[in-house]
Amino acid sequence: MTDIDLLPVPTWRDELEHEYAALGARLERLVPCLEWPLHLPWIDAINKLKKQRGALIMAHSYQSPEIFHGVADVTGDSLALAQAAADCDAELIVLCGVHFMAETAKILAPHRTVLIPDLEAGCSLASSITADDVRALRAQHPGVPVVSYVNTSAAVKAESDACCTSANAVQVVEAMGADKVIFLPDRFLGSYVATQTEVELVLWDGHCEVHEKFTVEQARHARERFDAKLVAHPECSPEVLAEVDFVGSTSAMGRWLAKEKPARVALITECSLADNLRVQFPAIEFIKPCNLCPHMQRITLQNIYACLRDLKHEVDVPADIAARARAALARMLAVGRRETV
Ligand code: 13P
Ligand code: SF4
Repeated sequence: MTDIDLLPVPTWRDELEHEYAALGARLERLVPCLEWPLHLPWIDAINKLKKQRGALIMAHSYQSPEIFHGVADVTGDSLALAQAAADCDAELIVLCGVHFMAETAKILAPHRTVLIPDLEAGCSLASSITADDVRALRAQHPGVPVVSYVNTSAAVKAESDACCTSANAVQVVEAMGADKVIFLPDRFLGSYVATQTEVELVLWDGHCEVHEKFTVEQARHARERFDAKLVAHPECSPEVLAEVDFVGSTSAMGRWLAKEKPARVALITECSLADNLRVQFPAIEFIKPCNLCPHMQRITLQNIYACLRDLKHEVDVPADIAARARAALARMLAVGRRETV
């Protein structure tokens, strides 16, 4: 039995409030004060265990504030996490996000151990398409290159010429040097990319179950009722995007807020991102969206702790699939991070 096996389940200590006073102050407006004494012992226990394990915790911007601000070493959108995994020198990565993100980290850091706190954290886009579907598309469109959003399984990435995220989709499509590109699986992101490029896109019928829910009426209501600037993620429908002041990826939204400094903004995207940005921009009033990603929400402080304590659940990708998926991801990373979306 190791020291880690013997760690007690975390309980409240009065000193914690003092030790984490700065974090408590930053999160004061987000985490109800009744919840804070429940989170703090877990945050403290995770931070201690993470050091003992030499682990690096990566958290996507859609993770809850107590995870994003409380225990993560690296935070960001899908592209930032992919880049951090490729550059990482920690032996152990805990990916707080969904399964395709953990697979991407493993593919880009094949010699590291990658853990995900809940293996069931999926994604409606990733489950909308299989490797067989990609092969069938290629057969229908011979010679046309395939660009896959990173929100896909490793097997789909392995059938693709390049990957992209919402942050670099236009550049990756154009870097294919073709008049026509198969773009999958997000139809709404693809439709938006098609408005930003001359390249003809063949689209797939995948949708993000979070972003597809937003409606034109909600966007208009936010503008009219709250006099808010509207910012939306390109996974929203074209009708919603037509209503907004700015369309941008997760990271581009943050940069837009820093530049424009609107008095009031409605973020038409996943709800935890709005929370995490509120901490970063205290002077801006946020009209919060209420659509949480149920898959991202599967990650909790408790299962992060268990993941570190028991070294579960390890994410692995078969070597032949990983090698081909890595080539598609490498092509994306070579295009770099100049954002157009
Ligand atoms: P990005 O992190 O690429 O903005 O993607 C948004 C998203 O829906 C992640 O699942
Ligand atoms: Fe997938 Fe949408 Fe959830 Fe992102 S927000 S993980 S795209 S279901």
